[in-house]
Amino acid sequence: MSFSILGTGKAVPEYVLTNDELSTMVDTNDEWIRTRTGIEERRICKDETITELCVRAANAALKDANVKAEDLDLIICSTMRGENLTPSQACMIQKEIGAKCAAFDLNAACSGFIYALDVADGYFVRKKAKYVLIVSMDNLSNITNWKDRSTCVLFGDGGAAAVLGEGDDLLSINLTAQGNDTVLRIPHGTNSSPFYEHEAEPAVLSMAGNDVYKFAVNAMSEGIKKAVADAGLQQSDVDCVIPHQANIRIINMAASKLDIPREKFFCNVEHYGNTSSGSVPIALDEASKSGVIKKGDIIALCAFGGGLTTGSCVIRWNK
Ligand code: UT7
Repeated sequence: MSFSILGTGKAVPEYVLTNDELSTMVDTNDEWIRTRTGIEERRICKDETITELCVRAANAALKDANVKAEDLDLIICSTMRGENLTPSQACMIQKEIGAKCAAFDLNAACSGFIYALDVADGYFVRKKAKYVLIVSMDNLSNITNWKDRSTCVLFGDGGAAAVLGEGDDLLSINLTAQGNDTVLRIPHGTNSSPFYEHEAEPAVLSMAGNDVYKFAVNAMSEGIKKAVADAGLQQSDVDCVIPHQANIRIINMAASKLDIPREKFFCNVEHYGNTSSGSVPIALDEASKSGVIKKGDIIALCAFGGGLTTGSCVIRWNK
């Protein structure tokens, strides 16, 4: 017994920040961003809170799944930073949607959705849950260094949710972590202790882009290979790959190392940039709603991110 994905729903902020507008803020230009990353625009929170976006995505997924909030047995929110340290973002969602179940947050950076799928799988295997809600949402604009052109052009806000029910559509799943705080890091940013002897570092993202790039290409290609093999399938059996939407060049390079045609990789990085843990489920929701994935399709999901973490899995689409 594992699970089936019963429904999905996304929520992104209204405001569209284009490459041209970014070019008025830092020394960059549309051509550099498009050719190096594939990104054309991203969504940025102006008046939306992360809780509002989470609730919107959760309600859309519940409606799509035809499941009531009160029937949920567990809510997992994958995020790097919810609205508060406590209550968790998942507890805020639980309160707002009117659920009564246990709720907690999980932080695996951009791999968060796939980490959450694996945790949820354990609840189904132990028969502790009939319905689980996963909401993967990040609000990277508030931890972006808007003066650093090498990173601020890459990220956006938003995320998506999925409702899982009992089923047997998870065919394989793999998580990895390599503790590393030198290539990608976001410090907490505050320390209110009068005893603490160091100055708190600002809560902004810093990244060695080239190192992450190399890690990412290998993580995606090897992760997909392993997930497909663990599912007892051939790469030619995969109907659609939903990769983490960080950079179109990473996706192209990973695709070139696999026996899966590039056309089978779903991409929407041009519209959202990298939304961290929101990226895979936003793409999954769009692939589902646009009819790119159909009932019975074999889908590979893969992600990499801060940690450094990776996640990959193969699921049968059953909607
Ligand atoms: O979820 C995980 C999150 N992280 C990632 O996925 C990031 C993975 N890494 C990448 O996607 C790429 O490494 C980047 C897009 C970050 C950078 O692309 P790159 O092709 O590796 O560029 P680079 O860092 O080697 O920089 C090339 C040049 C440099 O100028 P010089 O030294 O050659 O004169 C940079 O200063 O491009 C310059 N540059 C820019 N120019 C215009 C860096 N950022 C910009 C910019 N606009 N925004």
